[in-house]
Amino acid sequence: MSGLGPPDPPLVDAAAGIVLRPWRPADTAALAAAWAEPEIAAGVSVPADRSDAAAARWIGGWSARVESGAALDLVIAPAFEADDVWGEVGLRPLRPLRPRTAAAGSPALTQPVLEAGWWVRVEHRGRGVASAAVCLMVGWALGSAGRGAGAAQVVARIQPGNVASAAVATRVGLSKVGRLPDGRNLWVRSVAASTVFGSLAPPCAAKEPKTPGGGARPAPSGPGPRGGTVPS
Ligand SMILES: CC(C)(COP(=O)(O)OP(=O)(O)OC[C@H]1O[C@@H](n2cnc3c(N)ncnc32)[C@H](O)[C@@H]1OP(=O)(O)O)[C@@H](O)C(=O)NCCC(=O)NCCS
Repeated sequence: MSGLGPPDPPLVDAAAGIVLRPWRPADTAALAAAWAEPEIAAGVSVPADRSDAAAARWIGGWSARVESGAALDLVIAPAFEADDVWGEVGLRPLRPLRPRTAAAGSPALTQPVLEAGWWVRVEHRGRGVASAAVCLMVGWALGSAGRGAGAAQVVARIQPGNVASAAVATRVGLSKVGRLPDGRNLWVRSVAASTVFGSLAPPCAAKEPKTPGGGARPAPSGPGPRGGTVPS
């Protein structure tokens, strides 16, 4: 796969008051602080080295990861103050799809399967930030080439105990399809569900935006799937 965005124009949810934007060098301290949050470290893969220097290096590699198609990790920022960092939502490609009935050696399908991951800083939880951001990103991932990443499916791997993340997945139209050998649940949304059945089920359930500071909930328990913060 060559290139994975970023979305142009940037993805914005005005009702939720968020914009998804690239990581910038000025975000270094915020990224290192997020890596150090226990719930984020438990919920997504963060590097062993959580120093500012490591965060700066990771941000320095952002463009190369996007251009090579290795990953697209975007900051969830408030629309009114886009320099702030509320969280992150990321996509990375899994191996290309092959039809189950395909003969050995047949070509892989061209549409990628993208894995989504997400986290939100603790002080910004509990008011729909993750739901809005992941909804934007999943919708873009499944959008046709030119208006999106042209993916066939978006998947997420979520620990059974991660109630908040499962709720985010449900709200953005992913369905739990089974348990993986590592114990995590596999959640999937395919492009067919959003196009063929789009009129029956909205891609993302509407959510009332809440004001900042309006009641962060306790963090979910247990480790979750890989987020977008793994240095490549
Ligand atoms: C998972 C996480 C991103 C949710 O962020 P958030 O901005 O608080 O999520 P939202 O406000 O959009 O809430 C989404 C849903 O989760 C529910 N929820 C949030 N926290 C919850 C909790 N601790 N227990 C139960 N439900 C919870 C909300 O009620 C909401 O459900 P609804 O859509 O039915 O109303 C955040 O808790 C987090 O960063 N956790 C650590 C990292 C992690 O586990 N990432 C997931 C890996 S894929």
